[in-house]
Amino acid sequence: MSPRRLRTIEDLGDLAAQTVLVRCDFNVPLEDGRISDDLRITATAPTLRELLEKGATLVLCSHLGRPKGRPVDSLRLDPIAERLREVLGQDVYKLDQAVGPDVQRAVMAAGAGSMTLLENLRFDPGEEANDTSFAEALSRLADVYVDDAFGAAHRAHASVVGVAQRLPAAAGRLMQREVEVLSSLLDGAERPFVAVLGGAKVSDKLSAVQALVLRVDALVVGGAMAFSFIAAAGGDIGGSLVEPDRYDDVREAAALAESTGTLIQLPTEVVAAPEPAASADTTVVRADSVPEGLMGLDIGPRAVRDFARTIAGAGTILWNGPMGMFELGPFSAGTRGVAEAVAGADAFTVVGGGDTLAALGQFGLRDAIDHLSTGGGASLEFLEGRVLPGVAVLTAGETS
Ligand code: 3PG
Ligand code: MG
Repeated sequence: MSPRRLRTIEDLGDLAAQTVLVRCDFNVPLEDGRISDDLRITATAPTLRELLEKGATLVLCSHLGRPKGRPVDSLRLDPIAERLREVLGQDVYKLDQAVGPDVQRAVMAAGAGSMTLLENLRFDPGEEANDTSFAEALSRLADVYVDDAFGAAHRAHASVVGVAQRLPAAAGRLMQREVEVLSSLLDGAERPFVAVLGGAKVSDKLSAVQALVLRVDALVVGGAMAFSFIAAAGGDIGGSLVEPDRYDDVREAAALAESTGTLIQLPTEVVAAPEPAASADTTVVRADSVPEGLMGLDIGPRAVRDFARTIAGAGTILWNGPMGMFELGPFSAGTRGVAEAVAGADAFTVVGGGDTLAALGQFGLRDAIDHLSTGGGASLEFLEGRVLPGVAVLTAGETS
């Protein structure tokens, strides 16, 4: 990273008998109220254990979902507390609010070395607004602040920025490792550096595409976002998902890639069907000649081979975004093929984004990846070279 240094737990001094407010990113995927992937909980556990071993009392906080400033029962953090108890083997007191006199009292009454989990921060409109009084109310709960929520570091919210400006603040171990690994990709990635991007919407990833064409040697593009590239270049994409209002941006990115000698590799073949259904009849067609009435829902076998060849030659691989609707059996082979290629590559491999991590989990390939980033949007913004507000505020020498 930059010469400025991320403050770490060491910088906080002796934590014995200190109350530490720990911002976590417990924004985990839920299915019918159950946690379907607890990576964001297990990934922050080493920080929590270390703070407890140092004698601290912990107050944990997080957002979950997008409740938009009001309480939403299905987004309460009780399932998180339950999973934390299992992972840490220690009780966690779950409160039903994030701030206020009752919370203040409960935190004061919690014994030394205990863990208290506040309610979903986004139930209060002050969180996303980085409201002064909300940040102050949170700050009053603790002596020092540790931010381990790398996944939320791109949000200038009260619990990310406001609190860090009010308490002695440092990065937790997960935040520290994310910043170290992703900085190494920015500063000295082993070449060839190959980025693999996928997912449904090109608009979500356009700024990443624009920044990455300047940094990587090859940009492999799959998922529905590839159709905007194919259609912008004049291909027939049938009923595939596209964003025509982004064609100009896509053409601009393609021109930029051309001028810098960066390869943008698109699927030559796709798996098409009349609709995204597990029972759909599928056919493999050329990606630039998808018949009317069909939509491309996965990359085809030839595209998997092409992509795998690029991936196999890489020194560094960054992957964010599935190649198709991998949740549905008939459209999972492309994402599986890319996952296997990334997992089997000699390169240093970094994978981020909720869907991509879910896919790796589904294929049992997580252990084969060097760094699983707990940030989706945050890791892409970091790799665009942007200064994340949640990282800047933990950086020594940063004035505001
Ligand atoms: C994420 O999952 O990307 C982070 O937890 C941030 O959530 P958000 O996109 O709702 O701000
Ligand atoms: Mg997000």
